[in-house]
Amino acid sequence: MDKTIQHILVCGAGTMGLGIAQTCAQSGYNVYLYDANADIAKQGILQIEKQLLKLKEKGKFSEEEVLSIMQNLQSINKLENLEVDIVIEAIIEDVAIKRNLFATLEDLLPEDSILTSNTSSIPITQIAKQLKHPSRVAGLHFFNPATLMKLVEVIEGAATHKGVIEKLVAFTKTLDKVPVLAKDSPGFIVNRVARHFYVEALKLLEEGVATHNQIDTILKANGFRLGPFELMDLIGNDINFAVTKSLFDGFHQEPRFRPSRIQQQKVLAGHLGKKTGKGFYDYNP
Ligand SMILES: NC(=O)c1ccc[n+]([C@@H]2O[C@H](COP(=O)([O-])OP(=O)(O)OC[C@H]3O[C@@H](n4cnc5c(N)ncnc54)[C@H](O)[C@@H]3O)[C@@H](O)[C@H]2O)c1
Repeated sequence: MDKTIQHILVCGAGTMGLGIAQTCAQSGYNVYLYDANADIAKQGILQIEKQLLKLKEKGKFSEEEVLSIMQNLQSINKLENLEVDIVIEAIIEDVAIKRNLFATLEDLLPEDSILTSNTSSIPITQIAKQLKHPSRVAGLHFFNPATLMKLVEVIEGAATHKGVIEKLVAFTKTLDKVPVLAKDSPGFIVNRVARHFYVEALKLLEEGVATHNQIDTILKANGFRLGPFELMDLIGNDINFAVTKSLFDGFHQEPRFRPSRIQQQKVLAGHLGKKTGKGFYDYNP
């Protein structure tokens, strides 16, 4: 644990926010969990507790450890009067909504708190652009599931202070993660490379070359842990679609990043994947 960092604010209690909050609490940090919908944040804390109790059953944590991790976590329903060292924003992948939240955070939080975004694809420079102090904004990109995946991309925006990056690298190491530095660019490193895993698989489906199940089966037989359609369902089709759109726009309508109509239809139908019980696969019992 970094002694100069004690209080973490996680904004967004969805797939990523919960995993990130749990990861920070497990490493001894005091975590505030905030969501635009206060009930989601409250429920999120209960979900984390359920997760920890499962891990206790498996012998990964003792009862005392679960208790102490839970004491590090609290849901909050307003952002006023908080002492926070680092904010990790993990809300919807929408630049306008993220920028609004960052403007609010800048007004309410102490000037020396570091503001980070877990965005998968939106340039940090764009999120920070209209803030009074863009030098304290950086990307801190965890992967799904955040409690298990070791890699964290630490992204330097055009205005990010070098000291902020150094502090974030040290912080991610205390979470037992492996930080990788990336300059600001659409999709950074991993999502830019991985985009073709999804986009090409969706093209195969669109062209009727194979079913989503066949594509997943074949790729898993070749060593991938999850097939592209299982992974899109895990990530959330809304998030995955928004990220592809963001890269497509970020690279000036580069055809190789063209979003898929099939995935767009999933989003329109509300078939977002595991989180809604249906995506490319059906998760309802
Ligand atoms: N899902 C993934 O696999 C994955 C992986 C890495 C990074 N990311 C990124 O993490 C971020 C969150 O993704 P997710 O999958 O957790 O999304 P999600 O849809 O599961 O959760 C988003 C949460 O944000 C809340 N929210 C929306 N607007 C808000 C606001 N203005 N203030 C506070 N809360 C708000 C929603 O109520 C919701 O609970 C996105 O930027 C995404 O690109 C996602």
